[in-house]
Amino acid sequence: MSLRLPPVLVVDDEKNMRLSLKTVLTDERYSVRTVESAEEALELLAREDFFMVITDARLGGMTGYEFLSKSRARWPDMPVLMITAYATPKLAVEAIQAGAIDYLAKPFAPEELLHAVARCGERYRLLRENANLRARASEAYSLEQIVGECAKMRELRQLIQTVAPTAARVLILGESGTGKELVAGALHGLSQRSRSSYVRINCAAIPETLLESELFGHEKGAFTGALKQKLGRVEEADGGTIFLDEIADMSRPLQAKLLRFLEDGTFRRVGGTQELKVSVRLLAATNRDIVEAIREDQFREDLFHRLNVVQFRLSPLRERGDDVSILAEYFLRNFGVSLNKNTRTISRAARQKLLSHHWPGNVRELRNVIERALILETTSEIQPGSLPDFQIEARLHKASPPKPTGAESLDEMMANYERDLITGILEQNHFSLTRSAEQLKISRHALRYRMQRLNLSTGNEPEEPPGAAVKEGSA
Ligand SMILES: Nc1ncnc2c1ncn2[C@@H]1O[C@H](COP(=O)(O)OP(=O)(O)OP(=O)(O)O)[C@@H](O)[C@H]1O
Ligand SMILES: [Mg+2]
Repeated sequence: MSLRLPPVLVVDDEKNMRLSLKTVLTDERYSVRTVESAEEALELLAREDFFMVITDARLGGMTGYEFLSKSRARWPDMPVLMITAYATPKLAVEAIQAGAIDYLAKPFAPEELLHAVARCGERYRLLRENANLRARASEAYSLEQIVGECAKMRELRQLIQTVAPTAARVLILGESGTGKELVAGALHGLSQRSRSSYVRINCAAIPETLLESELFGHEKGAFTGALKQKLGRVEEADGGTIFLDEIADMSRPLQAKLLRFLEDGTFRRVGGTQELKVSVRLLAATNRDIVEAIREDQFREDLFHRLNVVQFRLSPLRERGDDVSILAEYFLRNFGVSLNKNTRTISRAARQKLLSHHWPGNVRELRNVIERALILETTSEIQPGSLPDFQIEARLHKASPPKPTGAESLDEMMANYERDLITGILEQNHFSLTRSAEQLKISRHALRYRMQRLNLSTGNEPEEPPGAAVKEGSA
C-alpha cells in the first residue's frame, strides 16, 4: 500500500511525555506534530490534515474529555486515542463513552502505543480505499457500456481489451460526445490497476493557475490562499490511473512540467523543494485537432509523442451506420426505466429521421434527443414530431465549406463531403431514396450503393417498384 499517512497530532502539557511519544512514533516512521494544549490542537486541526490525535486526559486549560467532545463534533471521523493516568475501569469506560477510539493507561509499553496507532493508520487507509471504491462503483465503467455493433466499435472494444492490461499510455481522440470518457474508464476498469484509484481531471474546467496545484499539490504558503498543504491528484492516483481530459487545453508551462513527470514519475508540489515520486498510468483525451494545436504552437510536439504511445480515434456517430438505431434503442430502454415511460419502439419515420441526421454532437446529442423525445411522446412509439427539427441544424452545418484538417486524407475528406451532401438531399426529400436519386441525377441503385459505402444507413427498406407512389418519410 503506497498511501502516505498524514501526521499524528500529539497533545500533552508535559514536555517529557511529548518528547517520548514523538520519539517512539518517529522511530516507526510516523510523522508527528506536538502541541501543549487542547486549544492549540483544535486550531491546528482546522488548518491541517492528521490521521489521528493522541491526547492526555488531563491537560491544563480544556481537559482531554472536553477536547474529545469538541473534536468529535467537528471531525467525527478523526480517531482520538486517550491517555489516562491510572488504569481504572471507570476511566476507561468514560474515555470510550466520550468517543475515544481507544485508551492507554500510564505507564504503558511503547508496543501498546504503536499497536493502537497502527490500527488507526489501517482504519484511515480503509476509509480512503472505500472512498475510492465508492467513486469507482458510481462510475462503474465497463466494456458493455460501450454500445455499438459497427465494425469500428467492435474493433474498438477489441483494442481496449488488448491495451488495457498493459502499462501503455493512451491518447484518445475524437469529436465531442463520441465516448472518450467511457473508453478511458474501461481502460482503467480492465487494467491491473483497477483496484486502485482512478482520478479524472478535466484540464479545461480548472483555471490555468490552479491546475498545477491540483495536479501536483502545493505546500502551505506556496501562494496566497494556500492555507495548508495539499496533496496532488497524482499522489491520490498513486498505484492507479490518472485521466487527463481535454489535455490540449493545458498551458505550455504546465505541459513542460507534465513532460518531466512522464519521464520518471517525479514531481514537486507547488512551493515545495522535495522531489516526490509516484507510479501512475496516464490516459489523455482531447476533442480538439491535436495536429493543428501542435502546428499553431499551442501543444508541445514532444509531449504529444510521450502521450501517444497508443492512439484511439473514436469515429463520429454519423460514420457508424446503423449504430444510430442501436444506440437510440439502448437510450430508449435506459430512459424508459428512469422516466417510467413505456414507449418501447421508434417509428419507422422517426428512425429514418435519426439515421439521416449528421449528429455534430455525436452520441451525447443522440442521448439527449432520445431523452427529450421520450418526455414529449404521448403514443407508444417515438414519432418524428417528438424529435427536433434537424433540418435547421443541417443547414447551419452546411453553411461552412469543408476545410482540410490535416488529419484526413483526400479520400476521407471527399467521403465526408459526399456524406454531408447526400444527407442534406435526403433530408430535403423527406428521406425518399427515389426522389433524392432523381435530384442527384443518379439511379436509385447507385444512391443505395454510395450510401452503403459511406456508412449511411439505407434503413433496409424494400426496393420500391419503379414508379411507385412515395409516401412521406418512407423509403
Ligand atoms: N458507445 C457508446 N455507448 C453508450 N453510450 C455512449 C457511447 N458513447 C458515448 N456514450 C454516452 O454519450 C455521452 C458522451 O460520452 P463521453 O462523455 O464519453 O464523450 P466525450 O468523447 O468524452 O465528449 P467530450 O469531448 O465532449 O468530453 C455519455 O453520456 C456517454 O455515456
Ligand atoms: Mg469527455
